[in-house]
Amino acid sequence: MKAWVCKELIGEKGLSLEEQDSPVCGPDQIKIRNHVAALNFPDVLITRGQYQLKLDPPFTPGSECGGVVLEVGSNIKGFKTGQRVMVMSGFGAFSQELVVSPPFQQVHLIPDAMSFEEAAAFNMTYGTGMHGLQQRGNLQAGETLLVLGSAGGCGSAAVEIGKAMGARVIAGASSDKKCAIAKELGADEIINYKTENLRDRVMEITDKQGVDVIFDPVGDALFDQAKRCAGWNCRYLVIGFAGGEIPTFAVNYSIIKSMSVVGVAYGMSAIKEPAMNQANFQQLFEWYQQGKLKPHIGKRYNLSQLPEALAEMHAGNTVGKTAVSFVD
Ligand SMILES: NC(=O)c1ccc[n+]([C@@H]2O[C@H](COP(=O)([O-])OP(=O)(O)OC[C@H]3O[C@@H](n4cnc5c(N)ncnc54)[C@H](OP(=O)(O)O)[C@@H]3O)[C@@H](O)[C@H]2O)c1
Repeated sequence: MKAWVCKELIGEKGLSLEEQDSPVCGPDQIKIRNHVAALNFPDVLITRGQYQLKLDPPFTPGSECGGVVLEVGSNIKGFKTGQRVMVMSGFGAFSQELVVSPPFQQVHLIPDAMSFEEAAAFNMTYGTGMHGLQQRGNLQAGETLLVLGSAGGCGSAAVEIGKAMGARVIAGASSDKKCAIAKELGADEIINYKTENLRDRVMEITDKQGVDVIFDPVGDALFDQAKRCAGWNCRYLVIGFAGGEIPTFAVNYSIIKSMSVVGVAYGMSAIKEPAMNQANFQQLFEWYQQGKLKPHIGKRYNLSQLPEALAEMHAGNTVGKTAVSFVD
């Protein structure tokens, strides 16, 4: 079987495609045949040694995939060979076969109607969007949500989830093409924050009230504009820093608008609070079945093109989710 191996922490140029033996499935593990892997920004960071999870080369990156259970360890209950599963593994998913160890909170059976591609594109971004908006943002029906990077992976999921939760969604993105995608996903209003003043447009749209919740996977200089869009009692969800710099914040600003700056740590929360995560995915799958969620696959690649796909994500050129087929 083939696996991408990170030999040097220099991004996609440090990856090489290798032929390897099928991994051994231990008694406490399950083995997966990967059909499709989806990219996430953490893959870009991990392969550069810039993520909170630091791995020493050689290792196989890849945070999530959709595939089939090939083997189940003798101590494992709850999985059977042949089941279709979506797996958020953190790393190891850029491989045709992988073994997954407990805890299994981020392994879900794929709903019948969902393709491997959609399944690969679901776990990380919809899990983050749901946990962020539901538990951390306490978003209520009728409230106004501002989503930044709204055509990206986490952002596009947050737009759809925000609509499913009954919010009015303002979607911001850095180009007209990206804004059009956010509109297609269901956003009520769109703002191109490259060509328009984010704060002025939000205040215009909200009748000077500002927004109740801000979902920010971009950070960097955009944070300074975005915090000025806050309404009274706003919850500012810190998702990530795809823009580059981690912004700093003078805490007096939280008093001016009675604003909470709330960190979102989906992966660790799913492990620490498994019942919460299970309930979130039950709701997400219901919304998927009702047609309210539909992962937007921006571009498809084959196995050998993976470095090209990662480079596009690093450059900020991807929209929705990027899918890479691992079937030869
Ligand atoms: N907190 C959590 O639990 C959690 C979970 C998953 C991911 N994350 C983090 O969330 C962030 C977004 O992840 P993602 O997978 O959604 O990424 P993504 O699909 O690449 O989307 C990120 C968005 O950020 C904007 N951006 C600005 N500069 C960029 C650059 N140089 N490169 C790439 N994007 C740039 C782009 O939107 P515009 O061009 O429209 O501005 C892009 O659509 C990452 O920092 C990731 O580590 C956090």
